[in-house]
Amino acid sequence: MPDITFVTHDGERFTIEAESGLSLMENALNNSVTGIDADCGGACACGTCHVFVEATWLSAIGEADAMEEAMLGMRPDRAEVSRLSCQIEVTDALDGMVVNLPEFQM
Ligand code: FES
Repeated sequence: MPDITFVTHDGERFTIEAESGLSLMENALNNSVTGIDADCGGACACGTCHVFVEATWLSAIGEADAMEEAMLGMRPDRAEVSRLSCQIEVTDALDGMVVNLPEFQM
């Protein structure tokens, strides 16, 4: 059960005991983390599960695929560390990861 911390744009922190094998988005919703809307239910079609992953964790979660890249490209607030949380599978290796939430998902 890796611990993962979500930090909202206004600084509120949610540390959850995440379930490996589920996506980061599913874990956020299951733990009532505010700021993850996930309007498309994880189909990589809405971009409302956008997170900013702390840079030191990027190699642990792997690269975004072409579909995720295309969806991220539509986000005006996209950054180098942007990812879609529905496309990140939680593993035990992500214990301690911190992700920040965009201003427009509150
Ligand atoms: Fe829609 Fe992730 S939930 S893109």
